[in-house]
Amino acid sequence: MTIPQQDHTRTDQTRTDRTPDDETTFPPSPEFVADAVADSSLHDAASADRVAFWAEQSRLMLDWRTPFTSTLDWSAAPFARWFADGELNVAENCLDRHVRAGNGERVAIHFEGANGDTRTITYAQLTADVQRAANMLAGLGVGQGDRVVVYLPLIPEAVVTMLAIARLGAIHSVVFGGFSAESLRARIEDAGAKVVVTADGGWRRGAVSPLKPAVDEALQGEGTDSVEHVLVVQRGGNDIDWTDRDRWWHDEFAAAAPEHEAQAFPAENPLFILYTSGTTGKPKGIVHTSGGYLTQAAYTHKNVFDMHPEKDVYWCTADIGWITGHTYVVYGPLANGVTQVLYEGTPDEPKPGRWWDLVDAYGVTVLYTAPTAVRAAMKAGRQIPEARSLETLRLLGSVGEPINPEAWQWYRQVIGHDRTPIVDTWWQTETGGIMISALPGVTKLKPGAAQTPVPGIVAEIVDDDGHRVDPGGSGYLTITEPWPAMARGIWGDPDRFVETYWSRFPGRYFAGDGARLDGQGDIWVQGRVDDVMNVSGHRLSTAEIESALVGHEGVAEAAVVGAADETTGQAVVAWVCITEEAQASITDRDALVQDLRAWVAKRIGPIARPRDVFIVDELPKTRSGKIVRRLLRAVTEGRPVGDTTTLADTSVLTALQQHTARKR
Ligand code: WT7
Repeated sequence: MTIPQQDHTRTDQTRTDRTPDDETTFPPSPEFVADAVADSSLHDAASADRVAFWAEQSRLMLDWRTPFTSTLDWSAAPFARWFADGELNVAENCLDRHVRAGNGERVAIHFEGANGDTRTITYAQLTADVQRAANMLAGLGVGQGDRVVVYLPLIPEAVVTMLAIARLGAIHSVVFGGFSAESLRARIEDAGAKVVVTADGGWRRGAVSPLKPAVDEALQGEGTDSVEHVLVVQRGGNDIDWTDRDRWWHDEFAAAAPEHEAQAFPAENPLFILYTSGTTGKPKGIVHTSGGYLTQAAYTHKNVFDMHPEKDVYWCTADIGWITGHTYVVYGPLANGVTQVLYEGTPDEPKPGRWWDLVDAYGVTVLYTAPTAVRAAMKAGRQIPEARSLETLRLLGSVGEPINPEAWQWYRQVIGHDRTPIVDTWWQTETGGIMISALPGVTKLKPGAAQTPVPGIVAEIVDDDGHRVDPGGSGYLTITEPWPAMARGIWGDPDRFVETYWSRFPGRYFAGDGARLDGQGDIWVQGRVDDVMNVSGHRLSTAEIESALVGHEGVAEAAVVGAADETTGQAVVAWVCITEEAQASITDRDALVQDLRAWVAKRIGPIARPRDVFIVDELPKTRSGKIVRRLLRAVTEGRPVGDTTTLADTSVLTALQQHTARKR
């Protein structure tokens, strides 16, 4: 993997100057400490013997059918095996065991639909539903190792489906409902899925947004021949086409046997594939397995979010289409037997303040969301949350991108009544679970910093040569020791796994973030240093969007950059050169711009729709013809471009600057 010449080191040093390390910190309150799950003994135990620590956590967090005797096998590094001779059933750990322990009547899910319907589902009911759904899927031929693609809205059936697949030892691949037919097709094909579970449509802002038509479109053509059945949840009530392979969820569910005995599977049985964008155009199918993943999911969920299952009401606002939804909506909270809120809609439908109403309605105690949502709430104004109580909240979490200190302070003051700790959690699809975060009740909090690796994780910031930086320095965030929830590879492409994450710094895991180590040893994650953008906490690849753009007949060349955006963190900005034919035939450039934005949304999904598309005669290139993204980003953000000596023709920049000047 090549890392472009970094300017982050430079910006970073100025940032070190601007951010003294003795700035405001928030020590845990005595009341919080008194009842906190985590204390400093975790750090002590993990540093004394890291591998033994994980073994102990695993035994503490999970029920093993066959206890493991081997904790870590790193002999085939970087492909780890954790707890490999142990056997368990993931779904049983999330469901049946809580019922057996007498907690069947505890609410597992308070579901709130976007259109106002609600459902309260206890652990006993969820267990029963998953058992029946497992029988239903088995009836459609799903067994151990088979891949099932899940393309659903954020409704209880999504959780039930994921757990039913897990219960059978099969592998789910959840595709975010906002992704296009084309993205869905690529994922179905790559995984060779046997069954697709979808819905007729989901609710969004008072209207039905159809899902099944995208599945129909994705299944045209030979690449997706592996799919034998499509199981359809009735949710939107919209009209849909029907084929021989389609089955209604409610029909099959009613016909399936109610009881299902969970079989034990080896710890390294794959649990899911989740696709994520990288630096090339093709999304990577990140593979996670069972025992190690569930151990870290449960352990981090319990300790970072200070979970007291008997009294907490937890709410993670992520969709199940992302890793946050996998680990902190489905597996972590359910393994811990926690009550949670599941909300299908957006923060402000039908009117601003819907989220805060839900916090009050369900008495949410712990809220986990993304900085982009906090900034959007800031923009909407503090009077909206201030008109609600929010008294029940006692801990707040942040994930997805760096949280700027201003947003952190606002989150604590306005949402947390100047009282709640905030945990800023750094991790990735590939890490499976939280890696760097404060521990509430232990850590003195520092607004804007992810701070310290959680006990059991070892992270280091290194310079270009892979040497550890001293406090005050900055460089690349790497992980030096294997961890239980680490990805076990890229589906169908082991070489790419090694090359992408393990080759830049030999012996270290590196997935693309820059970071600073402050004078007190706290880590400040600063965002991607590769061609990956972070838009509203979602990862998007510049290369993938560029390849969608050049697939348009009017486009000759395209360069995409992530530009700073007040609300979404970064925004997609595309610079395109159009073909000679298009130049000759197109009269309305604005219409072409709109067409290109819609084209990207159709090819990849609405989240990838460029905020701006600039049509230009030329892109800034080196003499050897490489697009100089660093300059393009500077121009896009209206910053000084700095050194331009690498450019073949500097006059190109002046032309580009005129475009952004006009826009501002
Ligand atoms: C990338 C991973 C992990 C769940 C959501 C995104 C960025 C994530 C933080 C944070 C600074 C963060 C990184 C990372 N990121 N959390 N607390 N502070 N940056 O998962 O799609 O796999 O993206 O999100 O750049 O590499 P993902």
